[in-house]
Amino acid sequence: MDFSGKVVLVTGASSGIGKATAERFAALGATVAVNSRSSVEEGRAVAERIGGSYHQADIADEGAVLRMIDAVVATHGGLDVLINNAGTTTVIPHADLAAVTDEVWNRILGVNIIGTWYATRGAVPHLRGSENGSIVNITSIAGSNAVGSCIPYSVSKAGLDQMTILLANALGPDVRVNAVAPGLVRTPWTEDWDEVRAAVERAAPMGREAMPEDVAEACTYLADSTFITGEVLTVDGGHMLSRAF
Ligand SMILES: NC(=O)c1ccc[n+]([C@@H]2O[C@H](COP(=O)([O-])OP(=O)(O)OC[C@H]3O[C@@H](n4cnc5c(N)ncnc54)[C@H](OP(=O)(O)O)[C@@H]3O)[C@@H](O)[C@H]2O)c1
Repeated sequence: MDFSGKVVLVTGASSGIGKATAERFAALGATVAVNSRSSVEEGRAVAERIGGSYHQADIADEGAVLRMIDAVVATHGGLDVLINNAGTTTVIPHADLAAVTDEVWNRILGVNIIGTWYATRGAVPHLRGSENGSIVNITSIAGSNAVGSCIPYSVSKAGLDQMTILLANALGPDVRVNAVAPGLVRTPWTEDWDEVRAAVERAAPMGREAMPEDVAEACTYLADSTFITGEVLTVDGGHMLSRAF
């Protein structure tokens, strides 16, 4: 796999899955633009280490997203791959309906769905100019199973799965659109999810949670392909299979 000459923008790349994905693309030859919202120092450090550029922007702010994409294109001369990884949640038991305030709904949908839409809409004109332009959305197994940190989060990822399919249909053959749906991944986000981790280790055929690098591998696979589009690729070590019994 060789991404030499390709420019890749990874949103939310200061830690976890985004960081590992930025590092993997760079190791495979890509020029990588690293984004984050508030963890500016961490984002800058990732960009510096992999020889890329850093771009601060809240993906829920369309003006900031468009300025970021302009800066990426001005700095690197184009854009070939967009990894829509930035996302947010709050842990709320699904039965606790009262805890799901309007603020929770608006923030989670505003970042996970509308923010992803802003980045996508801003990037598409540039991706069309690429030989193999593509988008990979990071969704979750919570988008298609009765699991997830809270109901708005799972609903947002279900929306993202559907956005992936609709956009693949709308943007082909110029731009391919796929998604990766991870199960539990060891990142700062899930650092203290010990009970979930134990359940995954007990039940999943692969016997462990994913590492960020497992998700990064799926991202480069989908970006490297030239024909796959409209797919949501589950990366959960088989965990959801074990729930069928
Ligand atoms: N970890 C899991 O088990 C798991 C499972 C399935 C799916 N996912 C998905 O994977 C993605 C990454 O999660 P992670 O576990 O790697 O989390 P993480 O380590 O907490 O990283 C989240 C990244 O997103 C950035 N971010 C958050 N809101 C943003 C915004 N509005 N604009 C720009 N950047 C923003 C963060 O930067 P700032 O801190 O600067 O905001 C950070 O760089 C998310 O979409 C999540 O839903 C995670």
